[in-house]
Amino acid sequence: MLKLESVELQIANGNENVSILKDINLELEDNKFYALTGPNGGGKTSLAKVIMGIYKNNKGKIIFDGRDITNLSITERAKAGISYAFQNPPRFKGMKIKDILRISSDNNSLRARLRAVGLCPQDYLDRECDTSLSGGEMKRVELATVLSRPSKIVIYDEPEAGVDLWSFENLLQLIRDHHNKSNVISIVITHHERVLSLADEIILLADGKIVDRGPSDKLLPLLRTDSRCCWEDNCGGNDNEIKCY
Ligand SMILES: Nc1ncnc2c1ncn2[C@@H]1O[C@H](COP(=O)(O)OP(=O)(O)O)[C@@H](O)[C@H]1O
Ligand SMILES: [Mg+2]
Repeated sequence: MLKLESVELQIANGNENVSILKDINLELEDNKFYALTGPNGGGKTSLAKVIMGIYKNNKGKIIFDGRDITNLSITERAKAGISYAFQNPPRFKGMKIKDILRISSDNNSLRARLRAVGLCPQDYLDRECDTSLSGGEMKRVELATVLSRPSKIVIYDEPEAGVDLWSFENLLQLIRDHHNKSNVISIVITHHERVLSLADEIILLADGKIVDRGPSDKLLPLLRTDSRCCWEDNCGGNDNEIKCY
């Protein structure tokens, strides 16, 4: 179980400290599939980074499987089984995709791992992980690395970003399969209706606070009419996403 107790995050902006996360209290149970959603700038990525240890919370505690991990480094948290797939995966100039895959795990075949995320191994193994890769390609490479690591918690930050709709269904299936066979807590940060509808529970984060949470079938209809969110349908655009303001 992952437990956040009264977690606060402030980030310095010029001379002032800006409050990004405010009194976050959250308990996430083993084997559950969570969708974390909410308006842009609401704090979803910051919350993921606090759990991963990339941002240090100013107040509060993070307890993972009964152990206080608040003061553990990113590496120690990764060793404890926490994985995070970035919203914007970092590029590594001078490193090839095969190098990145080997660092994450050498357990599985590199080729099979690339094929699973829809990348043709002969085209990608020797490509550099630099800006020549599109956002969607980079997301897939990162997914291949995260899914091959033994984890107890996996946070996927907007896995749909930059990925075409046709491929996303396959990637989502991979995430689901990984969840079902690995006994993990999965947290998918998303605005995608399909992911929201598949989640055991939806957590709504807005303005740095958890404003609602509940089973998908209860919360999803509410999100459609939430004043902070509207369906892209109603705003004009792609009908697979909830657009939050
Ligand atoms: N490193 C940072 N420096 C300054 N402001 C930040 C930083 N990281 C996040 N923020 C601010 O925190 C707020 C929440 O951002 P973020 O967690 O990325 O939101 P979300 O992922 O929900 O869109 C935003 O206002 C953002 O500008
Ligand atoms: Mg974000």
